[in-house]
Amino acid sequence: MKNILVTGGAGFIGANFVRMLLSERKNLKVVNFDALTYAGNLENLDGFMENKNHAFVHGDIRNRELIEKTIKEHKIDGIVNFAAESHVDRSISGPGIFIETNVTGTLNLLLCAKELGVKRFLQVSTDEVYGSLSPDEEAFTEETHIKPNSPYSASKASADHLVHAFHHTFGLDSVITRCSNNYGPYQFPEKMLPLCINNIRQDKQIPVYGDGMQIRDWLYVYDHCSAILRVLENGESGEVYNIGGSNEKTNIELVKTLLGLLGKDESLIKFVKDRPGHDRRYAIDNSKITNSLGWKPSVTFEQGIAKTVDWYLKNQSWLDHVTSGDYQKYYDKMYLNK
Ligand code: NAD
Ligand code: DAU
Repeated sequence: MKNILVTGGAGFIGANFVRMLLSERKNLKVVNFDALTYAGNLENLDGFMENKNHAFVHGDIRNRELIEKTIKEHKIDGIVNFAAESHVDRSISGPGIFIETNVTGTLNLLLCAKELGVKRFLQVSTDEVYGSLSPDEEAFTEETHIKPNSPYSASKASADHLVHAFHHTFGLDSVITRCSNNYGPYQFPEKMLPLCINNIRQDKQIPVYGDGMQIRDWLYVYDHCSAILRVLENGESGEVYNIGGSNEKTNIELVKTLLGLLGKDESLIKFVKDRPGHDRRYAIDNSKITNSLGWKPSVTFEQGIAKTVDWYLKNQSWLDHVTSGDYQKYYDKMYLNK
């Protein structure tokens, strides 16, 4: 592969991936296709917009003609699909756009990839497609049944099924990655971890849903990106690869860790109404990608979280910028009764 189309490359993980590709694969051309929704931001690509191997296309994956034109024009031979509506809470308040982008958008990409002979299609999926685990259940493997619980995870599961169907029916070379919760630079602060950092730095309360005992498996975004690159280059066609950090934490543990790192006390914690249908626990079994592709995370949770807090403190202007719109008002109203 020489010319890679990265969709959603101005969002959190996509931007980190584009930065990695341009830094570590100097022989590749990266075409970054992003609709720049509230979650996409060209500042996330600061220092890389002018890179000669990077072309940015302001495009929507719901627009099949534009995808076709972009693939032809840039002789695309590989696609990595990050573009998605990604926030569970938004999928509860408005599921329609999740189906349009995550399902129909992925279908458009698959149709173009098939018709135009793209060599490899990588779908960036999520552990949420497996549903929720009880405390004593084994971590998700690639064999775990798909049982999504939110409109977001249902849309991602639908897209995974389409990718599988295009491989099975049309022989499209495709791979799927399913990752656990990411954290790191450039994450939009509607997600729990940057939301906490953003609120703590301003002495604002942290809305903790329900009893705060829900468990997530945290992975540093750089390690997710390195796993995606490994699967893109060496994964077996038709296969699914789970990616996780083996760092299970309750939400309340995470919040207390961040309060400690930022030198604030627990009076900022505010328990609020739970998310409807809230999944209790996710956990990923990494064995397949570790044993077959030799991938492993490069940092521990303690190292990754310290780097992340440091990044947000050094980039407070980024936080100010991305929270300057209606988003902050929405959260204050919804969760802090302001
Ligand atoms: P994000 O919300 O930060 O970024 C999404 C990006 O997609 C944005 O740049 C946005 O502008 C773009 N986009 C949205 N709709 C689009 C459309 N119709 N056409 C083109 N671009 C569009 O999301 P993220 O957290 O970076 O997640 C990226 C992918 O990784 C998603 O597919 C998500 O399901 C998956 N994932 C995320 C996590 C996580 O912890 N964040 C974990 C596992 C998997
Ligand atoms: O597991 C992978 C998934 O992780 C990705 O597929 C999603 O795109 C990504 O958004 C993330 O989903 P979560 O729902 O786990 O992430 P979120 O940051 O929204 O919430 C993390 C946990 O914190 C979850 O149990 C809900 C809780 N939470 C979240 C918010 C925003 C709170 O308690 N308070 C909050 O204000």
